[in-house]
Amino acid sequence: MDSITYRPITDGEYPAFVRALFEGFADDVPDDDFVDLIRTTLPPERTLAAFEGDEIVGTFGGYDLDLTVPGGHIGMEGTTVVTVFPTHRRMGLMSEMMTRHLDSSVANGYAIAGLWASASSIYGRYGYGVASYANTVTMQSRDICFRDGTDIDRVRRISVEDAHEVLPPIFDGVVTATPGMFARTAQWWKTEVLYNAEWTKRGKTAKRIVIHDGRDSPDGYAIYRQQSGESDDGHANGTVHILEVVAVTELAHASLWSYLTNVDGCPNVRSWNTRVDDPLALKLVEPRRVRIESHFDALWILILDVTLALEARSYEHDGAIRFTITNSFRPGTDGSYELIVEDGVAGCSRLDGDTDMEMDVDVLGALYLGGGDTHAYAAADRIRGNVDALGRLHRLFHTARSPWCNQVF
Ligand SMILES: CC(C)(COP(=O)(O)OP(=O)(O)OC[C@H]1O[C@@H](n2cnc3c(N)ncnc32)[C@H](O)[C@@H]1OP(=O)(O)O)[C@@H](O)C(=O)NCCC(=O)NCCS
Repeated sequence: MDSITYRPITDGEYPAFVRALFEGFADDVPDDDFVDLIRTTLPPERTLAAFEGDEIVGTFGGYDLDLTVPGGHIGMEGTTVVTVFPTHRRMGLMSEMMTRHLDSSVANGYAIAGLWASASSIYGRYGYGVASYANTVTMQSRDICFRDGTDIDRVRRISVEDAHEVLPPIFDGVVTATPGMFARTAQWWKTEVLYNAEWTKRGKTAKRIVIHDGRDSPDGYAIYRQQSGESDDGHANGTVHILEVVAVTELAHASLWSYLTNVDGCPNVRSWNTRVDDPLALKLVEPRRVRIESHFDALWILILDVTLALEARSYEHDGAIRFTITNSFRPGTDGSYELIVEDGVAGCSRLDGDTDMEMDVDVLGALYLGGGDTHAYAAADRIRGNVDALGRLHRLFHTARSPWCNQVF
C-alpha cells in the first residue's frame, strides 16, 4: 500500500504504539505504568511501526536476546509484538515489516532470529521453524505419589520483592545448560517474570514463590498462582497454576513438585510450559497421573547466517555433512554448505558442487537446538536425501536432552 510508511517510533509515540499492539491482540492497554515498563525492555529504537498518516496501523519489535545453544550461546533477534490493525490486514504490511526487521537483524550481526507464534500458520513462509516444543500438564494432587526412595525436602515461601535477589542466581545455573533458554537482565526479571500488577491476576491470586535451599545456596524455585474454587458438593476445588519451575538439582525439582501438588484446597494442578523431557512423571508411582493436556510449538528459529549459526553450537559426535538450503523469502541464505565436526570443533563453509541432501531453511531452524526428528522430516519429504546422509545428519544435530524455552516473548 503506497499510503503506508515504516519507521521506528519516537519516545513520544510509545503510548500509541502500545495501544496499537494491544488492540492488535484484541485487548486494551492495562495501565500507564505498564507502558513505561515495556519501554525498558523494548526501547523505541528497537521497534518498527507501520504508519498511515500519523496513525500507527502495524507494530513490530526486536529484543536483544542471548540464547543458549548446545555447548554455547548466541545472540538472537527476538522477533516480537507483531500486529497489524484489523482494518489493514492481508494487504502485505506484516511481510513488509518482516523484510525490514530481518534486514536490520542481519545488519546488526544476528545469525538467528526467534519468536513464539500466536498462530502457527504465519511464520513458516518467512523461514522460521519450530525448534522447541513444550507440554501443558495437569494432575490431581491426590494421585501424586512419589516412588519410594525419592528424596524430598521442605521448601520455603519468599516474597516477590526478595525474589529479585534470590531467583536470578538459580536461573543462571540452569540457563547456560539448557538450549532454548535465554539469559534474563534485571529489567527482564522485573518486567516479564516478577511483574505482579493487579490486572495480571485475571481471576487468580498474585504470583507466589517458593524456593528450595541447597547445601550452600538456594538451588530451585517455583512461581505459581492459585485460583480458589468449590465443587458442586461444597468441597474446596482450587487450582495451582504453575508458571515456572526451575531447579538446579533433582532434589530441588522433586521437593518443589511435591509442595506444588500438596497445597491444601487446591487439588487441581496445571503447569502450562513444562519441558517435554521433564522427569516428574518418572519419579511417580503412577507416571500416567501426569496428563499431557497439550503439546505445543514453543520457540521458532530462523537461521539468518548458516555458517555463523552452525559454528556457534557444539555437536555430540564428529562427522561431516553436505547440504543444500532453499529459502524463498530471503534468497541470500540459500545455497550449498558443508559442516565438518572434528574433535568436537565445528567448521561450516559454503560449497560448490553436489550435496547429500536438501531442505528448506525452516527445517534447519527446527533442527538447530538439537530437537526435531530428522527421520520424521524426511518422511514428510521436508528433507530430501539418502538414508546414510540422514543418519549422519541425525547423529550430528540431535542432542540427548530436548531443548526448552521456558519463556514467551
Ligand atoms: C498476523 C498478522 C500480523 C498478519 O498481518 P497482515 O499484514 O495481514 O499479513 P500480510 O498481509 O503481510 O500477509 C502475509 C502473508 O501471510 C498470510 N497470513 C497473514 N496472516 C495469517 C494468518 N493469521 N494465518 C495464515 N496466514 C496468514 C497472508 O495470507 C499472506 O500470504 P501470501 O504471502 O501467501 O499472500 C495480523 O493478522 C494480526 O495482527 N493478527 C493478530 C495478532 C497476531 O496474531 N500476531 C501474530 C503474533 S505472533
